[in-house]
Amino acid sequence: MEIVPLTDAAQVGRIGADTVEALVASDPAAVLGLATGSSPLPLYRELIRRHRDGTGPSYARVRTFNLDEYVGLPPDHPQSYLATIRRELTDPIGLPRAQVHGPDVTPEGLPEAGERYERAIASAGGIDLQILGIGGDGHLAFNEPGSSLASLTRITTLTQRTRSDNARFFDSPDDVPRHVLTQGLGTIRRAAHLLLVATGRDKAVAVAAALEGPVSASCPASVVQLHRHVTVLLDEAAAAQLGRLDYYREVYAAKPDWRGH
Ligand code: GLP
Repeated sequence: MEIVPLTDAAQVGRIGADTVEALVASDPAAVLGLATGSSPLPLYRELIRRHRDGTGPSYARVRTFNLDEYVGLPPDHPQSYLATIRRELTDPIGLPRAQVHGPDVTPEGLPEAGERYERAIASAGGIDLQILGIGGDGHLAFNEPGSSLASLTRITTLTQRTRSDNARFFDSPDDVPRHVLTQGLGTIRRAAHLLLVATGRDKAVAVAAALEGPVSASCPASVVQLHRHVTVLLDEAAAAQLGRLDYYREVYAAKPDWRGH
């Protein structure tokens, strides 16, 4: 794992954007896995800024797959993850909507939605770069503690903690759906490169557990330890509980150019 301690969210956004752009520049039809939530927003805003400045690559052929989706919200609901990702990233960078995918949460589609989503990802050739945030309890996508490390896309039930963490996006806490469709931890493990971003002290304990604690279903994000190409971008507050912080800083400061992203 490459663990990169940075100063603030803006720097996390810039380095994350460099990683995405390097991939799309080398493969204009790359497949991106996209996370919602607030953690990736600085990265998305940086991509949009560079696109508008004319310095970013073309996203016309890029395909994307969202990590997860609420069950029970209509697709045009502003807090549905499909609407969110269109608004926060893919529309502003000119990525055609037909190439932006999310799990199918329509009542008719739901029973087979997990299998269909897995097949759709596989027929796109798999995800080249998966952007990830982390929940305060160590959840990854909507895989709550106790999720199998081999799980695939399926319906899960949110914990009360996750529902209250996400209540800020809704008019009332009771409006946060109880059920979601999420890529599994096994799905996430299949992506070629994982880019985990975390900022703020509310994430510090989960980050330390995920990166330095045991690999365990009790901390779903610890699954990243089983992956051979992981980049973790952290601001100072999110990195604060890491035991090997000085070493990670030393490694990053001495990173040779040939290592790339
Ligand atoms: C959400 C999402 C995750 C996200 C996490 C953290 O519920 N399903 O993909 O990484 O929780 O969210 P945030 O980045 O807003 O802290």
